[in-house]
Formats: sequence, structure tokens, C-alpha cells
Amino acid sequence: MAKTVLVTGGAGYIGSHTVLQLLLAGFKAVVVDNLENSSEVAIKRVAELAGEFGKNIIFHKIDIRDKEALEKVFASTTFDAVIHFAGLKAVGESVHKPLLYYNNNIIGTINLLEVMSAHGCKKLVFSSSATVYGWPKEVPCTEEFDLSATNPYGRTKLFIEEICRDIHISDPDWSIILLRYFNPVGAHPSGHIGEDPRGFPNNLMPFVQQVAVGRRPALTVFGNDYSTKDGTGVRDYIHVVDLSDGHISALQKLFDGSEIGCEVYNLGTGKGTSVLEMVAAFEKASGKEIPLVIAGRRPGDAEIVYASTAKAEKELHWKAKYGIEEMCRDQWNWASMNPWGYGCPDPAD
Ligand code: NAD
Ligand code: WQD
Repeated sequence: MAKTVLVTGGAGYIGSHTVLQLLLAGFKAVVVDNLENSSEVAIKRVAELAGEFGKNIIFHKIDIRDKEALEKVFASTTFDAVIHFAGLKAVGESVHKPLLYYNNNIIGTINLLEVMSAHGCKKLVFSSSATVYGWPKEVPCTEEFDLSATNPYGRTKLFIEEICRDIHISDPDWSIILLRYFNPVGAHPSGHIGEDPRGFPNNLMPFVQQVAVGRRPALTVFGNDYSTKDGTGVRDYIHVVDLSDGHISALQKLFDGSEIGCEVYNLGTGKGTSVLEMVAAFEKASGKEIPLVIAGRRPGDAEIVYASTAKAEKELHWKAKYGIEEMCRDQWNWASMNPWGYGCPDPAD
């Protein structure tokens, strides 16, 4: 029998790609999302891309802080597991609106965990972040590194990780996998789903993409005086389809009967790429020049962050397949087909 997975935040960037991979892998998916930072068009496109499996997705426009609404969803369906993406993720905004972030991310998660527990659903995959490594003392980052956070967004990830560890200690029936994502970029190779941030893009590649389609004049490079190959910050960019596949591997681990407890895995490629290298790869993939403005360092930014991938490879049997060429190719494919994201019709619609 097909397993049924609840996906919170499943209309969002990573969620929509993961729901597609879930459907293609034969799972049934129930998505709850308040569409705060996403569009229902993404759900429609995922169903189309899934072909014959497209019938296996159900969408509810629900805020996970609305416990009554969540209760109804759990009362009508028995879930084998939950993948929990729903959350706010803009680092800068979290500094100005910390209560919004603590309310949305932490209270939302506590609600979800309470409802899961009440309905005996105790298998969870949670979206954590490499942000919990702060400014790492060395690289690659292994899962055992000390954790820290430099902003309220990061602290919500840290706190939720701790909450998950605590509930597993209190009740060993819980099986929880915390996935620490590095820098997800790119889009589905079809070009029909991708990242469509509301407002001013905070992250590098959505910004580069908007410069390429003429929505912004230039990319501001935050610092060229780091001790890196070209002076710009180095990150571990990972193709969103690889990242999504990491969730399928995590689910398989939850379902394979092994004693998991509360376990944490990095999802990255293990390779560091500088801002300028990423821009050059995007220019090559798109044929567009990206004008640059060199500025000072962005407060709170680390110099070099990339993952150790050994634990995920060994225990989840998962390894990223794509490099920055494919990431930029697919990012550009999505951007050129949907220069305004989901805000205007897809040529295929
Ligand atoms: P996203 O904003 O595209 O997706 C998050 C989704 O959650 C959105 O569709 C939003 O509408 C929904 N949502 C937010 N609050 C909600 C609530 N209270 N109730 C219901 N739905 C709600 O972001 P994403 O990039 O897909 O990120 C998914 C998860 O991964 C987030 O938890 C994020 O913190 C985490 N993460 C993202 C990155 C990244 O760089 N994109 C890196 C590490 C971790
Ligand atoms: C990458 C590099 C910037 C924008 C953030 C969050 C982290 C995680 C992933 C959720 C850095 C440089 C960026 C720009 C630039 N998200 N840059 N000009 O900072 O590694 O991580 O997203 O969990 O929590 O903090 O990603 O894409 O913002 O930056 O020069 O306009 O690009 O300085 O070196 P970051 P990013």
C-alpha cells in the first residue's frame, strides 16, 4: 500500500520539488501551506509534472498554527510520516521581527508535533539548516560540530532541533531525522517549478536570476576581502532536486525498521564555490552578463561553509549528483520560462 506523507510548506521552493519526487516515488502526499511565501500554482504544476501520479496529491490552505485545522487533517487521514518545511526563512527580516519568527516557526512546529503525537504519527523529517553551524571554525562541517546561531531565524532552527531531541528522549517511539540543508539552488529541469521569493530576494541565486531577466540592474557582491580563492564568500550550493531526493532517502530510513532515534544529517555536495564562481557559471549557462557592484561584507556572513557529506552517504545512501553547471542551467531554464515566477502564466499553461 502506498504510504501517505503530510508535507507542511509543500507549496514552497524545496517543498514543491520534494512533493514531486515523493509522488514519482509512489507516495501519496497531503500538502498543508498557508501560501504566505508561495503560490497554489506550484501545486498544480507539481501534479501535472507527476503525470499519472498527479492524482496522489491533496492540498489544504492551512496555517500550521491553526491547531483545529491541523486536527481536522489528521482526523481525516492516517499519515505514515510528516516532512516539515513550513516556516519563515528570511534572515534579515527575522532580525527586525523576531516574535513573528518565533511565533510562526516555533509555535507552528509545537502545534504540529502535538497533533502528530495525539494521532500516533511519530515519524518526522525536519528542515534544519547549515545556519546552525554559525561561522564554522573549520570546514567541512560535520554533524558533530558545536552549534550556534547569529540571528532569530537561525535560533528557531536550533530550538526546533533541541525540541525534537527532547521529545525523542521523552518518548522513544518518535523517529526523527533533522536535515541540515546547505545552499539549495536551481530548479526542476522542466522549468515549470522553481524558487519564487516574495519581495526583495535575500539569497544569491534568486537575486542573480532577477538581474538576468532584467528585474534588477546589478548584483551587489557582499565582500571581496575574505580569505578565499577570489576574496568572495564560499558556500556549498546544492541542486534542489538532489536535496529533494535526500528527503526520499530520509523517509526510506524512517520506514526501514532501523532504530533511528533523533538523527541529524547534512545535505550538501561537500564542495565550496565562491560568489564569483557561481556568477561566472550562471553567465555561461544563461549567456547573460550579470553586472556587479562590490560592497562591504554582509553582517553575520561566514567566510567559508561547506558540508561533510560522509554521514548522509553512509547512512542514508544518498549523494548529490549535480554540479554548479546543472544548477545554473536549471535555474536559468526556470527563470527564462517564468521571469516573474508564478506571477504570470507559464507558456505551457
Ligand atoms: P519557502 O518559503 O519557499 O517555503 C516555505 C513554505 O512554508 C512556504 O510555502 C510558506 O508559505 C509556508 N509557510 C510558512 N509559514 C507557514 C505556516 N505558519 N503555516 C503553513 N505554511 C507556512 O522556503 P524553502 O526555501 O522551500 O524552505 C523550506 C524549509 O527549509 C524552511 O523551513 C526553511 O527554513 C528551510 N531551509 C531553507 C533553506 C534555503 O536556503 N532555501 C536552507 C536551509 C533550510
Ligand atoms: C551566499 C553567498 C553572500 C546575496 C542563507 C541563510 C541560511 C540558509 C541559506 C536557510 C554569501 C553572497 C548573497 C547577494 C552576495 N537559509 N551574496 N550578494 O548566507 O549562505 O545562507 O541561505 O536556512 O540560513 O543564512 O546564502 O544565498 O544569502 O549567500 O554577495 O545579493 O552569496 O555574502 O557569501 P547564505 P546566501
